Amino acid sequence: MSRAVQFELRLAERMSRLGTETAFEVLNRARALERQGKEIIHLEIGEPDFDTPANIVNAGVDALHAGWTHYGPSAGLPELRDTIAKEVSRTRGVEVTPDEVVVVPGGKPIIFFSILALVDEGDEVIYPNPGFPIYESMVRYIGGHAVPVRLPEERDFALDVDELSHLISDRTRLIIINSPQNPTGGVLSKRDLEQIAEAIGDRNIFVLSDEIYSRLIFDGKHHSIMSLPGFKERTILLDGFSKTYAMTGWRMGYGVMRSDLASHVARLMTNSNSCTASFTQVAGVEALRGDQSSVEHMRSEFQRRRDVFVTSLNKIRGFSCRMPKGAFYVFPNITATGWKSKPLADALLEEAGVACLSGTSFGEFGEGYLRFSIANSMENLSRALEKIEKWIQKNVNH
Ligand SMILES: Cc1ncc(COP(=O)(O)O)c(C=O)c1O
Repeated sequence: MSRAVQFELRLAERMSRLGTETAFEVLNRARALERQGKEIIHLEIGEPDFDTPANIVNAGVDALHAGWTHYGPSAGLPELRDTIAKEVSRTRGVEVTPDEVVVVPGGKPIIFFSILALVDEGDEVIYPNPGFPIYESMVRYIGGHAVPVRLPEERDFALDVDELSHLISDRTRLIIINSPQNPTGGVLSKRDLEQIAEAIGDRNIFVLSDEIYSRLIFDGKHHSIMSLPGFKERTILLDGFSKTYAMTGWRMGYGVMRSDLASHVARLMTNSNSCTASFTQVAGVEALRGDQSSVEHMRSEFQRRRDVFVTSLNKIRGFSCRMPKGAFYVFPNITATGWKSKPLADALLEEAGVACLSGTSFGEFGEGYLRFSIANSMENLSRALEKIEKWIQKNVNH
């Protein structure tokens, strides 16, 4: 006779320390509201609304027909690693060789693999706050100590180097920086990077430099800490295809790091994914070597939307917003509305029909802000602004 037995789910303790990316949760809630018949404008998710450029799609399709459907080397196809090495050498002004490149499924695995490879339990990792939530999540998951460094609005969301200097200790193993930045749109200037480099000095600390938005800059030029003297050996550069070439669903990114570390990161690939999809990598070669006009088209379109969205947002009562210098996010200060970030983001979703993220989804120093992704059509952005304004007029007093 069978007896109904309830087996308790006994998760590993570390699972209690694993965070998440709220964007996906808000997207699910927004979709549920849509199923109830509500109109929602999606400004929560950080992905280009453009399709992957046709030359890249064609290269991927041709690769499938040509039989690029098998396992490949864990660190990536030699032709792609070579192409990336040349691209990074050219754009960052440092000599990079193919054995210093590891291709992975998206930029995200480079975050996880760097932390797995370098950080022991109890080691400290300094990370930007507000910042991409996966940094803190991964550090805490493996038992590291996540140390936030504040990105102050008064400094246009560049990192406060004095604070960074105070946070560096004998236990610091890794410092994570991100420019152009998610969620603030802040960009680190060459001077900022030099000051960060000075603060680190000749300590044996690695820098994980997340440059996934490197081609999405509106003012000035992209700079990498990897280009500074003495930093090539201590930098893991993260970049990829998701944002630059509107390839989020293809899952392809890369890390550039000294070759001895690269071989360990490749071992982590062997243990987890085996390799990045081969036909995707063939398309990646075309993305980097082919016509780049679509990249410039998307960049200038994001800039146009940024200008309109920020100007209009600043006219809404209680909102005050700096012009982001890069990426496709807008991060207004909403303290003058009298609302906290999370309740305001919830109310805008449920009552105004605009999905955005609370600044606190990016860490405690995100309180007082909201994040809007402007990777949506101008028409939808205008509709969102109207809906927000209407809701604010009803719910926020003079
Ligand atoms: C700062 C930052 N780093 C990394 C990633 C991950 O990119 P991918 O989709 O290529 O894994 C994102 C995506 O939102 C991001 O905003």
